[in-house]
Amino acid sequence: KTVYVLNGPNLNLLGKRQPEIYGRETLVDVEAACRKLTDAAGMELRFHQSNAESQLIDWIHEARETACGIVINPAAFTHTSVAILDALNAFDGLVFEVHISNVHKRESFRHHSYVSLRADGVIAGFGVQGYELALQRLIRLSA
Ligand code: DQA
Repeated sequence: KTVYVLNGPNLNLLGKRQPEIYGRETLVDVEAACRKLTDAAGMELRFHQSNAESQLIDWIHEARETACGIVINPAAFTHTSVAILDALNAFDGLVFEVHISNVHKRESFRHHSYVSLRADGVIAGFGVQGYELALQRLIRLSA
């Protein structure tokens, strides 16, 4: 079984970008932690980051063919992208939305998520550990 972990804009700078909000761990660290979990579960991991909305949509389309679930941190596209919501609505598996920071404690424009209209679960404010928590849930439900 295959799972996708998708990351939106600016998350390539994780660890360097506003560390007081997002912490000092990098996306490479996050990928390693995710891979540990999928390896142990005998699952295939596709881990991607893009600053481009269209690329994220293409990966969601690709997941339609192969994946049982998607963990996605859409970053700023969370609050703007009907197109990512539509792509996720065309995906039949599980969708978990992750935010490193607690978006509800931040500016009001971060309080609304288009992706939450589709997500089976949402994690916010657990730091990068949120990816592991979401993936553990996905693995348990897909077993
Ligand atoms: C984020 C929260 C978003 O509001 C922000 O635009 C991000 C990261 C998070 O992981 O906390 O880029 O999704």
